[in-house]
Amino acid sequence: MIKGKHIILGITGGIAAYKSAMLARLLIKAGAEVQIVMTPSAREFITPVTLSALTGKPVVSEFFTANTGEWHSHVDLGLWADAMIIAPATACTIGKMAHGVADNMLVTTYLSAKAPVFVAPAMDLDMMAHPSTQANLDLLRSYGNHIIEPASGELASHLVGKGRMEEPENILRVLESFFSRGSELSGKKALVTAGPTYEKIDPVRFIGNYSSGKMGYAIAEELASRGAEVTLVSGPVSVSCKHSGVRVVKVESAREMLAASESVFDSADIAVLTAAVADYAPASPATTKMKREGNAVPTIELVKNPDIAAALGERKRPDQLVVGFALETDNEESNALDKIKRKRLDAICLNSLRDSGAGFAVDTNKVTIFTASGAKIPGELKSKREVAADVVDFISKSLRK
Ligand code: CTP
Repeated sequence: MIKGKHIILGITGGIAAYKSAMLARLLIKAGAEVQIVMTPSAREFITPVTLSALTGKPVVSEFFTANTGEWHSHVDLGLWADAMIIAPATACTIGKMAHGVADNMLVTTYLSAKAPVFVAPAMDLDMMAHPSTQANLDLLRSYGNHIIEPASGELASHLVGKGRMEEPENILRVLESFFSRGSELSGKKALVTAGPTYEKIDPVRFIGNYSSGKMGYAIAEELASRGAEVTLVSGPVSVSCKHSGVRVVKVESAREMLAASESVFDSADIAVLTAAVADYAPASPATTKMKREGNAVPTIELVKNPDIAAALGERKRPDQLVVGFALETDNEESNALDKIKRKRLDAICLNSLRDSGAGFAVDTNKVTIFTASGAKIPGELKSKREVAADVVDFISKSLRK
């Protein structure tokens, strides 16, 4: 899977830089073409001679070659790469990457790279645990970068804790599995609904709910990262989509979400319905702001919203796979099984508000997948990104059957 891939290996100034030579060698052995980009301080830890001998290419670390004036184009490098991996990534470089401080060849290349970027931090345990490092890593994650968590063990400071750069063999495995998954769903089209819907009461008020959209966005990005062509029909959310393979269609109300979903459903192979659609909408929203008049309390008449999942389930072909989500507070399993039948779903991912760490507005979730054929696949409490990977694993396996 790595064979023939163009990989930029970015090396920053940390003790773990000596391990980068091993990583370069493993990548070359796996058949990759490797271009090393070093920060000036990385050269204090490992020499460019060692690295260029391993990769067969001159190491790049300055914008120009001083004696010839030859310019090294970070833009060309960024476009050449199929993946960029920064290993080791120091707290300093992580901070620069997070905030666009483009004062060296490595960070400018990172900013120009169109390919997926992997970051393997290495630093002392207290630096790693510092809120600023963690906030910068969160920012990098939010830009769609892949963070390869450091391992725990003895550090260069002789302190023991989390901060050791992941071993080169394991970094290679992460890249291999990334490239092998990249084509798993190629040629497949997917529809994902996400977020809440807002149902207008008047021009300034609405009926809505707490859905953040994070689960749906994570699923859309995961499907796209495995090669699917994804349309994400999203209610109003503050999260944004990190993957260029996802087309986002913004809607507000359940009716708009239904129309946008129906327009792509027939050509989709997969539909994952994570949206928390409002069940009711005001029957006749006011066209001007409702005013408080004396002590009278207004009554808002509601009408039923369309059930998008049921509408799609109704027209589903046997070659299409439709997966719903259910957030329950009680009688979880029987409610979930009932929704599979009622909405003609192939599977439903159940999360219970009784599980702490699951549900709205948090970054974690715990889902159990129930299938129409009676299978039950329990899951652990994980980040929404990891839950998305599990759900897409399930989808991918089901399509292969
Ligand atoms: N759903 C939908 N359209 C609706 C309501 C729900 O597409 N109007 C989808 C959701 O996206 C989810 C599944 O149906 O995939 C279950 O959502 P849920 O709100 O639990 O279903 P309801 O039928 O509204 O059931 P409840 O009575 O529990 O609210």
